[in-house]
Amino acid sequence: MARLYGKVALVTGAGAMNGGMGNGKATAIRLAQEGATICALDLHLPAAEETCEIIRADGGKAIALSADVTHEDQVKQAVADCLSALGQIDILQNNVGILKTGGAMDSTVEDWDALVHVNMKAVFLPTKHVLPHFVDRGAGVVTNISSIAGLRYLGTPYIGYNATKGSIISYTRNLAAEVAPHGIRANAILPGFIDTPMARDITVQNSEDPGAIDWDALDRQRAARIPLGRVGTPWDVANAAVFLASDEASYITGTEITVDGGVSCRV
Ligand SMILES: NC(=O)c1ccc[n+]([C@@H]2O[C@H](COP(=O)([O-])OP(=O)(O)OC[C@H]3O[C@@H](n4cnc5c(N)ncnc54)[C@H](O)[C@@H]3O)[C@@H](O)[C@H]2O)c1
Repeated sequence: MARLYGKVALVTGAGAMNGGMGNGKATAIRLAQEGATICALDLHLPAAEETCEIIRADGGKAIALSADVTHEDQVKQAVADCLSALGQIDILQNNVGILKTGGAMDSTVEDWDALVHVNMKAVFLPTKHVLPHFVDRGAGVVTNISSIAGLRYLGTPYIGYNATKGSIISYTRNLAAEVAPHGIRANAILPGFIDTPMARDITVQNSEDPGAIDWDALDRQRAARIPLGRVGTPWDVANAAVFLASDEASYITGTEITVDGGVSCRV
């Protein structure tokens, strides 16, 4: 029996840029493979629809919704639309996050504000509006995507990103303690270096000559920094999400799973 049969999962950021494979898209696909019906939410409807097409081609069930998770009215409407189409929500996967380069002295106020605005609201707003439904049912699972960058400096100045990802860990622990009496669990996944469109995009943005980027050489350099010897894939993150959403994790709440090939063990 599929582990998530009969469950409904709302996954935010369930599309991926340029038809690639991102953490949210892979998570939506893996949750569906385990039997969950998926509500794939993304800022870009065609990206969410593409994820749903992959799920349906694989025999799964999915609907696509367009919303900006930083706008409360849109999040409220999306949750209502998901409930009216699918009748229930059992799993909320808060995957949306943005990345901007910058250290303590050179980060702009605009970039700082954007990081705080998107990365913090991306966990706060969907959770706020799904929780009343979870409380009514006395069950539910929230999984927030943080990052190992939320734990420590990883060699590149991403101070605003890292601070917001660190605060997602704190938010998740607080949330878990608050909602546990209602039978609701909340955990965070901390991915390491994962090959996604967002990760490639920031490499391009930081490069003086994007056309000259040797992606294979870059992968080899990155892999050399990783104890398990390879860059992660969105499927590595998705598999952790499946576990946290499943009843196998029924006694796990308020904690973090790092999915980083061991990077955070090495100082
Ligand atoms: N890629 C990595 O190496 C890595 C490492 C650690 C953590 N993460 C985290 O994983 C998450 C997903 O990253 P990814 O690399 O798969 O990203 P991605 O950019 O490939 O995909 C994210 C999706 O979110 C959507 N989105 C962006 N802003 C939105 C908004 N306001 N409302 C609704 N949808 C929105 C985008 O349209 C996109 O389809 C992020 O939270 C990121 O911080 C990624």
